[in-house]
Amino acid sequence: MIPAIGIVDVRVAYNGKPVLDAVSARVRKHSAVAVIGPSGTGKSTLLRTLSRMNDRVPGFKVEGKLRVGGEDVYAKGLDVCRLRRKVGMIFQTPCMFPKSIFENVIFGLRHQEPARSKEFPDIAQQVLRRVFLWEEVKDRLHKPAPNLSLGQQQRLAIARTLAVEPDILLLDEPTSSLDPQSALAIEELILSLKKDHTLLLVTHQLAQARRVSDETIFLEAGRVIESGPTEAVFGRPAHAATRAYLGRAEEA
Ligand SMILES: Nc1ncnc2c1ncn2[C@@H]1O[C@H](COP(=O)(O)OP(=O)(O)O)[C@@H](O)[C@H]1O
Ligand SMILES: [Mg+2]
Repeated sequence: MIPAIGIVDVRVAYNGKPVLDAVSARVRKHSAVAVIGPSGTGKSTLLRTLSRMNDRVPGFKVEGKLRVGGEDVYAKGLDVCRLRRKVGMIFQTPCMFPKSIFENVIFGLRHQEPARSKEFPDIAQQVLRRVFLWEEVKDRLHKPAPNLSLGQQQRLAIARTLAVEPDILLLDEPTSSLDPQSALAIEELILSLKKDHTLLLVTHQLAQARRVSDETIFLEAGRVIESGPTEAVFGRPAHAATRAYLGRAEEA
């Protein structure tokens, strides 16, 4: 079966400085894979490279193969807008436009499919329900989104991404700027999204990686040190470097 995400021997450098070194990984459809590892190790670079977010970064160079749904992410002539619809990205700090909750939810759709504007209210309701935000905002859809709490903003950011129906969600430390309760709400949401989406989640919260992911990739200094079923990586790490990182991170 074609994996939802296929990464083969990927090397990335910024201005000639190697950041990812021979990284390979496969993500099965409708599974959640966690990427863990020390900071500065290339986790965000991996996600940004997959969604072509680094195209305009000066000095960025990528080699190797990255595929989503079997399609080469760096194929000549690839429509990057279409790729971005297939691969949604969620960041540590939710970005709200200075607009209403409703306009924020349908922001991507309004640009990509303006002809469907009659459907927008239904779609907004549907995706806000999916992120468990509908009940909290249904009476103030036309109030400014930046007034929401950070946890609500992060769920709104996920709703906005879901509105364009991506197959894959790349989440880069989506809960690290949130309080513990809001973080748990996002975790619940991530678990519920696996039914319809494939998830690649960068997190430095190891307990979170254990709770939500099926497989874990441990990255250190731009290399995959170890990867496999989450229970195995955490329960029986094969490499001394993994054991050392898990031990250090648990003390922190
Ligand atoms: N736009 C950029 N230009 C130059 N170097 C970068 C850029 N983004 C990240 N780096 C460098 O690449 C390395 C990996 O960074 P990053 O992917 O953000 O790691 P992580 O997400 O694991 O903390 C770091 O040394 C960082 O300084
Ligand atoms: Mg990062």
